Amino acid sequence: MKNETLYGEDDGLPIPEVGPWTEDKFDLTRLYCQIFSSSMKNMWTRVYVDLYAGSGLCRIKGRNQILLGSPLIALSVDAPFNRYIFCESNPERFSALKTRVEKNYAKHDTRLIAGKFEEHIDEICSMIPNKSIALCLVDPFDCDFDVDDLKRISKCASGVDFLCLLALQMDAKRNVPHYLLPDSKIDRMIGNTKWRERWNLRTDIHEDFAKFLAREFAQSMSEVGYLETPLHQMREVKTHDKKVPLYYLAMFSKNETAFKLWAQVLKYSTKQSSLFQ
Ligand SMILES: C[S@@+](CC[C@H](N)C(=O)[O-])C[C@H]1O[C@@H](n2cnc3c(N)ncnc32)[C@H](O)[C@@H]1O
Repeated sequence: MKNETLYGEDDGLPIPEVGPWTEDKFDLTRLYCQIFSSSMKNMWTRVYVDLYAGSGLCRIKGRNQILLGSPLIALSVDAPFNRYIFCESNPERFSALKTRVEKNYAKHDTRLIAGKFEEHIDEICSMIPNKSIALCLVDPFDCDFDVDDLKRISKCASGVDFLCLLALQMDAKRNVPHYLLPDSKIDRMIGNTKWRERWNLRTDIHEDFAKFLAREFAQSMSEVGYLETPLHQMREVKTHDKKVPLYYLAMFSKNETAFKLWAQVLKYSTKQSSLFQ
């Protein structure tokens, strides 16, 4: 696999439109899937889990370009994972993904789950063999997910690394007064209500809400044994034109090796040099 964006073709099935910055997310996802699966291939059975899988293809708004989505990116790595698990709640997208996977990746071991992943956690866990390691992509539209669901998945196999899109700048930061009220979705995303107290007691009144919540999220993951991902190891993705911050893409693992691999991805994703030549 070359170090370049993976393009697809219009096949007549639904192709959602996305912003141009999606390419940055896909580059990081592609590089990490590639390096994770290749470097572990002689040691582990490897499972890729995509909780918000999408339809498999997307079209960049304003450009006549179709990109492979995260499930097809993961299926394209040089050392394929031993199993792939895809969840998608939108029936139209699910059906398009299923058709694309069955048509083009019939030889891979793929399991497709229709519906919200939160309602299928036991099923997802039962599909991850005990003696395997998993890489789980968490790519929601916003902050509306429950970290406790990720923590349940984290217990499934010999280890689950998460690659999480934290939509803190495009969601949380735009709605600060609303999320400071009790019972907000941020409570579920962080997994506690104490963050609000810590925010109110902060010493630096100019502290950035998105950065604060990113650190809180990392701390919450550390409660179940994850190494605390520091802010500088999260990639902030911005709009290409106005350079408006949108989200962080962050890796969570219990293993130092994963951080070394992620550091290489962060380094090489900013250059067009190849990580694999
Ligand atoms: C930001 S898109 C992710 C796209 C995908 N990762 C890709 O590369 O194209 C989020 C996707 O998750 C789906 N979705 C939203 N909530 C979900 C849930 N609770 N469980 C599973 N899928 C969900 C949406 O229908 C949408 O296709």
